[in-house]
Amino acid sequence: MFQWLFGKSFNPEKDIPSLAGKVILVTGGNAGLGKETILQLAKHNPKEIFLAARTPSKAQAAIEEIKQAVPESNISFLQLDLSSLQAVKKAADEFKSRSDRLDLLINNAGIMAVPWSTTQDGYEIQFGTNHMGHALLTKLLLPTLLKTAKEPESDVRVINLSSEGHNMAPGPGIIYEQAELEQWGTWRRYGQAKLANILHARELQRRYPEITATSLHPGIIMTELYTSVNKSSMIMRTGTAVGRSFLMDVHGGAKNQLWAATGPKETVRSSHYWKPVGSKSGGSFWHAQKPKLAEQLCDWTEKELESKGY
Ligand SMILES: NC(=O)c1ccc[n+]([C@@H]2O[C@H](COP(=O)([O-])OP(=O)(O)OC[C@H]3O[C@@H](n4cnc5c(N)ncnc54)[C@H](OP(=O)(O)O)[C@@H]3O)[C@@H](O)[C@H]2O)c1
Repeated sequence: MFQWLFGKSFNPEKDIPSLAGKVILVTGGNAGLGKETILQLAKHNPKEIFLAARTPSKAQAAIEEIKQAVPESNISFLQLDLSSLQAVKKAADEFKSRSDRLDLLINNAGIMAVPWSTTQDGYEIQFGTNHMGHALLTKLLLPTLLKTAKEPESDVRVINLSSEGHNMAPGPGIIYEQAELEQWGTWRRYGQAKLANILHARELQRRYPEITATSLHPGIIMTELYTSVNKSSMIMRTGTAVGRSFLMDVHGGAKNQLWAATGPKETVRSSHYWKPVGSKSGGSFWHAQKPKLAEQLCDWTEKELESKGY
């Protein structure tokens, strides 16, 4: 009952199967939904979890906290700054020197509604961090993902954190000309980045059917993601303070990505975007439903990365 409203019931303790032998990488694992995702996955005995994060002190604190809850867990820090392609390459090289398999890549890190700026490589900061950084990370780890997919009984997945915010993407869908993006408000730019997360997962699964790739909206959860929003307006500050009392907590907010990462494979593969928890959706915005746009974005991204030497 009420599944249409709240999605599937999902209890990470009971519903996540054994993850024995699996290697997992979660970006943005030092805070919010990423940290909770690692905590819950760690309870099911994976071989190793790489907590990829930008701020090392926060990463160490997160690892200590998770290890207190799950002392037998094997969690390693991987330095990763998604706003620099060079730093992403370094992180991917570091990962590959430390593991020859990767079963689960959760592209979770993200920034939201931050003021206009560009990454070192010239991309609008949200598009550069949330999409370009993750697209390069996935591309560089793809040989390891595909190799793992050939192992007996493997079930390799890439999960992109998107958002219902993808509905706010600019009218044309994806604006490739980065300078042009400055004319659009920060929420529209966030929308574009989150639309790109959906399209990237969609095209990834089409191009590499050996792996499962999907994207999802986690719900609305008052994490540090709202820091920039809170700074910008008192109305938002009041809204998030009030929201904290009745919206989902971080434990509940991580459920949809935990479900996508470990739930029934054929079900998870059957949509490129999920609302919480495990509720099928093609993406509300019509652009999210366009296979041609997904292909075009991935072709463009590939060319950009190649032009920069990756
Ligand atoms: N919370 C929500 O209501 C909500 C709703 C829809 C979608 N989402 C999506 O869910 C994901 C997780 O959000 P959250 O709520 O857990 O946010 P959060 O608490 O702010 O955590 C974001 C994580 O991303 C990392 N990060 C930011 N910039 C990075 C960079 N350049 N390189 C590497 N890591 C970086 C942060 O690390 P540092 O602290 O070290 O920078 C942090 O670990 C995001 O993709 C977000 O768009 C969240």
